[in-house]
Amino acid sequence: MLPRKEEPPVSNPVLMEVVDDIAVIAIANPPVNALSHAVRSGLDAAFAEIARRDDVKAVVIYGTDRTFIAGADIREFGKPPQEPFLPDLINRIEACVVPVVAALHGTALGGGLEVALGAHYRVAVPNARFGLPEVTLGILPGAGGTQRLPRLAGVEFALEAITSGRQISADEALKAGVIDRISDTSDVREMGLTYARELVASGATPRRTSELSPVPVAAEVFDAARTRLAKKARGQLAPQNCIKAVEGATRLSFAEGLANERALFQELMESDQRAALIHAFFAERQVAKVPEIKDVAPRTIDQIGVIGGGTMGAGIAVSALLAGLQVTLIERDADAVARAEANVSKTLQGSVKRGKLSQENYDAIMGGTFRASDDYATLAEADVVIEAVFESMEVKKDVFTKLDAICKPGAILASNTSYLDVNEIAAMTSRPEDVIGLHFFSPAHVMRLLEIVVADKTAPEVTATGFALAKRLKKVAVRAGVCDGFIGNRILSHYRKAGDGAVLAGASPFEVDRALVNFGLAMGPYAVSDLAGLDIGWATRKRLAPTRDPREVYAEFADRLCEAGHFGRKTGKGFYVYGEEGQVPNDEVLEHIAMERAAKGIAARKISEQEIVDRYMAAMVNEAARVVEEGIALRPLDVDVTLLNGYGFPRWRGGPMQYADTVGLDKILADIERFAQEDDFLWQPASLLKRLVAEGKTFADLNNA
Ligand code: 3HC
Ligand code: NAI
Repeated sequence: MLPRKEEPPVSNPVLMEVVDDIAVIAIANPPVNALSHAVRSGLDAAFAEIARRDDVKAVVIYGTDRTFIAGADIREFGKPPQEPFLPDLINRIEACVVPVVAALHGTALGGGLEVALGAHYRVAVPNARFGLPEVTLGILPGAGGTQRLPRLAGVEFALEAITSGRQISADEALKAGVIDRISDTSDVREMGLTYARELVASGATPRRTSELSPVPVAAEVFDAARTRLAKKARGQLAPQNCIKAVEGATRLSFAEGLANERALFQELMESDQRAALIHAFFAERQVAKVPEIKDVAPRTIDQIGVIGGGTMGAGIAVSALLAGLQVTLIERDADAVARAEANVSKTLQGSVKRGKLSQENYDAIMGGTFRASDDYATLAEADVVIEAVFESMEVKKDVFTKLDAICKPGAILASNTSYLDVNEIAAMTSRPEDVIGLHFFSPAHVMRLLEIVVADKTAPEVTATGFALAKRLKKVAVRAGVCDGFIGNRILSHYRKAGDGAVLAGASPFEVDRALVNFGLAMGPYAVSDLAGLDIGWATRKRLAPTRDPREVYAEFADRLCEAGHFGRKTGKGFYVYGEEGQVPNDEVLEHIAMERAAKGIAARKISEQEIVDRYMAAMVNEAARVVEEGIALRPLDVDVTLLNGYGFPRWRGGPMQYADTVGLDKILADIERFAQEDDFLWQPASLLKRLVAEGKTFADLNNA
């Protein structure tokens, strides 16, 4: 017998009450009502009881608190599955002999939507959202979603929804036939009850989706999807299995289609890609858990100041404006102010075109929420000021001295510097506790990553405000310590050297780019340098030249390009030539490289694609291990989130540390020792890596410590 709602045992997340002749099942498993073992058992017991009773004429299932069911309990993945299994439970719900209504609010995702599809009738509040996001976790809807959605909403709709994993609005779901009605009743339980009462009154019977025949489609639809996704989701297993499962729904019986879905699901469950994507999901939530700000309240932020309206300043301003904040941007003179204003306006107009911003909000922003000026005094009331002027310590010191004089007490003074010492910048002010690094990535209104650089004297409250601001801007924030390049750029400098090392040893930059794109990177490192501007790396190399260790094998071929005025895309030529026919390799680079090899006495040899990847990854992981060891990153997972969200690392590999755990830390160490035979300065194994290998441990062990 299931407990009644009025006497719930503490641990039971599924409660049933019978209201008149309607069984109302509430799921209460905060925060997102995931279908844990306890929830599945509770639902199973509820339907067993309904089957035994003859006084129940209809059933309502709803979720308490903020949502219906957000899916299977991802924390249970990788552990031995426990009965009742979700597909069986949903079949049981569907088999119920009286009408079952799913009353939906919040997000009905994954297994949550599959439960709703197993119900006979679906009603939702207007702002409810739906989706089968399993593909983003490296799996597929494994509880009948690939069989029921095509039957209910059509094969092409289902194929697109399942392979993209995107969220669908209530309006779209209604149009597609995923739900039966939208109701603006504010009480979800009441909304379900009203619908159920109507169904009982009209003598409605169960409507089982599994009994519908899917509408047949031409085989080309699946072939086209396969080709498109082989390109778009290169290297990924889940999208392809999703297609196979939906295809099964068109040519197999429901039971056979379910069995096919299960087999394809199991294959994905056992894959490294599934483990990597779920690691990424949890890591992105774990990064916000920073011990020093636990229970620390952030300061209030309404008004933002931005200094510098170039590439980054304009992007940061747009990001803050889109989040509804007031922004004052400061430039050097009237001309620069006008250029910055034009930049911001153009980007915002792009947002209007893409439907991300209404014309009305655009007008409000340009009519006053955004102001640009050359007068620092207009920052007197700003809560946070983010400096994004030239990457020069002298210029930054000058700016922070001015800010210290003008800003109100309690204002946060932040720098967007890529490499410079935030402690030195903070020391320019009388309030180093209010100074922090907020390192955005370009384009700042698009890229999700924000490194929050905590200097020696930064107050925890200021760090907490940085994280709160990131959330408001819908960014993933990672805590970083102060060092040259913080987490991401520091690691980047190191693995870029490994790329250059592969080139000096015999590979071409184009082979390096190709190998890494095949590995899954969004772009190869030389194509990225061209995009960012070769002058940026050149300036950094010149800045660091005086401190460069004489034992370092310094690759000069990029400098040769810069000396000739080739800065990449912006000058039409860099490692590649950019013309009407797109991007083609610049053969001049090969001449510079050949000359450099000759001067250094290097005999070029064939470097395989695998060796390029091994070098690149070993260098990345090795430097990342140092970054963790020195406390610059709190945990290996912080490195993973940084590389995934700021550096185009393939999400389905989970980040470099997850990749290292997957291939084995002993392999990474052995690679480093092998490459050290060629260059024992670049390839010095991090002591953390050696220790973990000696102890038979993984980076994941540190994440969980
Ligand atoms: N299982 C376990 N925990 C989950 C979870 C899930 N499905 N979804 C969210 N959580 C946890 C989060 O880890 C977080 O925990 P924390 O507070 O300890 O960090 C907490 O719930 C709140 O999550 P968010 O911080 O993400 O809250 P938001 O309000 O920002 O977002 C959400 C809510 C949109 C539901 C988002 O959490 C989400 O997208 N969840 C995953 C949804 C999903 O992928 N469902 C499919 C699961 S796979 C499946 O169903 C397989 C089936 O086909 C067999
Ligand atoms: P940029 O050259 O495009 O813009 C700098 C702007 O600052 C110029 O418009 C200039 O007029 C203005 N400026 C200079 N001195 C000023 C002063 N005293 N007061 C007001 N404005 C002043 O440079 P970009 O690329 O936007 O970089 C800015 C900062 O952001 C640098 O520290 C850089 O390292 C960092 N950064 C750059 C990234 C990129 O991809 N471009 C990524 C992340 C950080």
